[in-house]
Amino acid sequence: MLNDQDRIFTNIYGMHDRSLKGAMQRGHWDGTAAILGNGRDWIIEQVKASGLRGRGGAGFPTGLKWSFMPKQSDGRPSFLVINADESEPGTCKDREIMRHDPHTLIEGALIAGFAMGARAAYIYIRGEYVREKEALQAAIDECYEAGLIGKNACRSDYAFDVYLHHGAGAYICGEETALLESLEGKKGMPRMKPPFPAGSGLYGCPTTVNNVESIAVVPTILRRGGAWFAGIGRPNNTGVKLFAMSGHVNTPCVVEESMSISMKELIEKHGGGVRGGWKNLKAVIPGGASCPVIPAHMCEDAIMDYDGMREKQSSFGTACLIVMDQQTDIIKAIARLSKFFKHESCGQCTPCREGTSWMWRVMDRLVKGEAEVEEIDMLFNVTKQVEGHTICALGDAAAWPIQGLIRHYREEIEDRIKARKSGRMGAMAAE
Ligand code: NAI
Ligand code: SF4
Repeated sequence: MLNDQDRIFTNIYGMHDRSLKGAMQRGHWDGTAAILGNGRDWIIEQVKASGLRGRGGAGFPTGLKWSFMPKQSDGRPSFLVINADESEPGTCKDREIMRHDPHTLIEGALIAGFAMGARAAYIYIRGEYVREKEALQAAIDECYEAGLIGKNACRSDYAFDVYLHHGAGAYICGEETALLESLEGKKGMPRMKPPFPAGSGLYGCPTTVNNVESIAVVPTILRRGGAWFAGIGRPNNTGVKLFAMSGHVNTPCVVEESMSISMKELIEKHGGGVRGGWKNLKAVIPGGASCPVIPAHMCEDAIMDYDGMREKQSSFGTACLIVMDQQTDIIKAIARLSKFFKHESCGQCTPCREGTSWMWRVMDRLVKGEAEVEEIDMLFNVTKQVEGHTICALGDAAAWPIQGLIRHYREEIEDRIKARKSGRMGAMAAE
């Protein structure tokens, strides 16, 4: 369990003053000018040494990503873009940072922007996050007034602006290149990668896109040193992390914990345990809707980090767990996710546009037990045709939950089809 002194987010539950004055009393904006004074290379080296990996879901090493930005300008400005379009079903961790601890994000933006030679940061915030937008804008205004950002930010001779852009509610705009299109005023449709944003991003300029949490932890890492962060968790999976728990736990929450905590400890200590006790657990989706489901018997010794989730044939994603108890209709739960991905597909590539619709239609029939047993393999094969054959990760995200369902719950799917054929379905529904 994480020691109190290792916590970064000192106001995650909104118990304290979130204004600049309150944030400074809690140690934020402390020695920021000195951190900038250490120079770009020192900042990037410390972030690399910390082992910090992107907290938006993909887990790409943050310091390495920053090092892709050009050291010398070729006449184009560079930008930092902060992805606050948190829309993954079950994911609500960045929201707590923005509404209760917004100064961690703005201070992080200044330091990260400085390290990559960015002229400005654009924070792209999810359309539904209205109160969070207000909290963040108030904090940005305070920082301008105090001279912490803007011309001569923190008296460093460095000019750095922070702009807040409110999205309009499309999930796909959280994909980094769709987000850039949307920021440019176009329809939010993902671009082909490469080129990656570091080479050609916002308005064709060098750009780094980072998740809110990835940026918000940076000032504390630099104040305490990369080695401190690297000492928490385990190699390749370092640091502190915001976890969220929703679904059938007794106390759904967002909590800051050390990486590599066991899933069981996380659920029992912070989520108040599974409704009806651990024995009543059916499955956990560990990191947002796109991560394959993990059945209860594999959750017992599961470690919550990148490697631990890979060992369970799933992924760490956003570290926001959806817990399901024995009373859950798991086929219906995954079918609902299929419907979500079908709805949110931008439709520009055929495997995703047609595949997500097709997968949802079959899933809907599986829920009712109306399909043939042979269709289970056909569905699995279709997910494999979609996976890796699309412009962005939404196609993969739609395919993986279904693969997890078939891998672990084939018997349950088959039983339902057989029950339907034998006329037992109506009786089962009435039970
Ligand atoms: P990705 O693996 O393609 O890229 C991750 C990051 O690393 C990107 O910023 C990319 O530009 C950079 N990158 C990767 N390879 C690079 C290279 N060779 N050179 C330079 N930069 C490189 O993953 P993607 O598509 O950005 O994100 C998918 C993840 O997003 C999923 O794992 C999912 O969990 C997560 N997600 C999170 C949501 C949320 O609400 N937080 C919503 C939807 C998905
Ligand atoms: Fe659009 Fe889906 Fe293709 Fe992504 S994978 S670009 S969401 S159609």
